[in-house]
Amino acid sequence: MKFRLLLALLLLFPGAAFAHEGGFASIHDTLSAIIERLKTTEDAETLSRLRVRDVVDILTEEERASLGRNYWHFEVDVPVVVTVLVTDKQRDEPFWLEEQGYEKKAYAFKAVETDFVAWEKSFGAGPIGLGFSALDNFEPHYLVALRPQEAGEKIKVSEMSPKQHTIGKLTAGAFAFADSFDHKVEEVPAELEGALLLRPLRRGMRQTQIVNVFRTTPYPSSATPEHVVLTWNGDPKTTQTVQWRTNTAVTEGRVWFRAVGEEEHQSIDAVRTELNDPYLVNDSINHRFTATMTGLEPGKAYEYRVGHGDTMTEWTAFETAPPGPAPFRFVYMGDAQNGLDDWGVLMHECFKNFPDAKFYVMAGDLVNRGIQRDDWDAYFHNASDIFDRRTLVPAIGNHEDQGEDGPWMYLGLFDLPKDGSPAIEPERSYALEYGNVLFLVLDTNAPIEAQTAWIEERLASTTATWKFVVYHHPAYSSSTERDNPEVRRHWLPIFDKYKVDLALQGHDHAYLRTYPMFGGQRVATPAEGTIYLVSVSGTKFYEQGDFDYTEFGMTKVNTYQVLDIQVEGDKLTYKAHDVNGEVRDQFVIEK
Ligand SMILES: [Fe+2]
Repeated sequence: MKFRLLLALLLLFPGAAFAHEGGFASIHDTLSAIIERLKTTEDAETLSRLRVRDVVDILTEEERASLGRNYWHFEVDVPVVVTVLVTDKQRDEPFWLEEQGYEKKAYAFKAVETDFVAWEKSFGAGPIGLGFSALDNFEPHYLVALRPQEAGEKIKVSEMSPKQHTIGKLTAGAFAFADSFDHKVEEVPAELEGALLLRPLRRGMRQTQIVNVFRTTPYPSSATPEHVVLTWNGDPKTTQTVQWRTNTAVTEGRVWFRAVGEEEHQSIDAVRTELNDPYLVNDSINHRFTATMTGLEPGKAYEYRVGHGDTMTEWTAFETAPPGPAPFRFVYMGDAQNGLDDWGVLMHECFKNFPDAKFYVMAGDLVNRGIQRDDWDAYFHNASDIFDRRTLVPAIGNHEDQGEDGPWMYLGLFDLPKDGSPAIEPERSYALEYGNVLFLVLDTNAPIEAQTAWIEERLASTTATWKFVVYHHPAYSSSTERDNPEVRRHWLPIFDKYKVDLALQGHDHAYLRTYPMFGGQRVATPAEGTIYLVSVSGTKFYEQGDFDYTEFGMTKVNTYQVLDIQVEGDKLTYKAHDVNGEVRDQFVIEK
């Protein structure tokens, strides 16, 4: 909760964590001021049609200076030549380059399959400040080459801010961005060969976006509690967390609950947080309420209602986890992300056909625009009357983790166990035991290797019959264009060692079931290895490749998976269903 409070404060005062530099307001303060000014002077329609040049026209001198110098800072210990490499596709070149005396050079530089234009300027030893990459959602981000003015001198770069930006050597084949293994430098002119390459975050672009950011949500909040979602932040046997939203007129929230069939109820106060999406012109701030019902009895049906004063939701039932091994079923889904209305249809089909599924595991990319609340509004709207009665067990996908501040909106929306890997932020990874199954929910957006110690510790200490891991970027991809070698290198030896049964993954927008795998090789039976699954529940699809690890694959079909855990004979039955209820894949594992 402390972490969320900090996030809420940072959202309210985005400049608070950043020092003012060079005598100008920080870029965060500057952007906030511009946004607030635009919101008071323009209507929603004008804001949604804003162009880069409209914004540039209304900037004050101080704002121009801040946007042009305060985005990226570092210090050098010798005089240098700074080359800012901007793709030639960018219609609105960053105005600060020409304004600050950068000169265009005729270098042939290629990266990320596009040609770049070089802008060059000499600086003495000391601090250097660079400006924004784009005020719209243009990609890719510019790259920076540094070389000494005096040939042969070594440059020491220090005080890099943002800290996530990295330094490498500029040569063909080098990674172009600090946060991507997929994007490379392709062609380097002789003048820049071997220079220092300063790598930005590919996703850092959105940090300075002012154009195409103003939105309206089709589902604005009201004083009625909505978007009610069950999660677990503790033991599913004895606790149940519930969260909901209202508008800012509602300042307190409460949960009333009782065992089904009983008259007497208990009630507890909910904790209120503020979720602010400043770009949402018709409903920027929501109040979000979180409460955890505790002291519940295992394997028992309860009902609850949430609200304030006389405004309450209907009594809605849920069930705690069984006290020990017991048969149950749950649902696993891959990326919803796009086509949330169609995803809603699939969800409701699933709930109608399998009302007894106890909870819904989602392997990341629940939405497409993870730091834009209108996308989450559509997500919750489409899951209404499901997530208020069946617990959501989410993992973080790359679409939740956008922008330099990471998955702050996801973390603000869901209260989850805080027992995850101590190497990464709380709630980004966590463990849950339900019946005789251990779920380890991991974060493939966070450092992979850092999580291995915790994964091993949890797998080594569990007595659960079944061990499932849930994460977004697949160890074995269904696409020829994608690969996540870090996941394989650091996690698979542990999955092998502790006999993880299933890996529930997403990201590749197709369906894949691998053969049971061990040590990177096919093995004959599930008892000898781990089955890796990829699926998609939304409407964006990618082609799939043909790999020797593929036992079954398909694309252009969105599915939900129902997993039946049977205690007698320790059997698992898995079925992938399409929206028409047709079974598209199935298998059985017997221990
Ligand atoms: Fe993804």
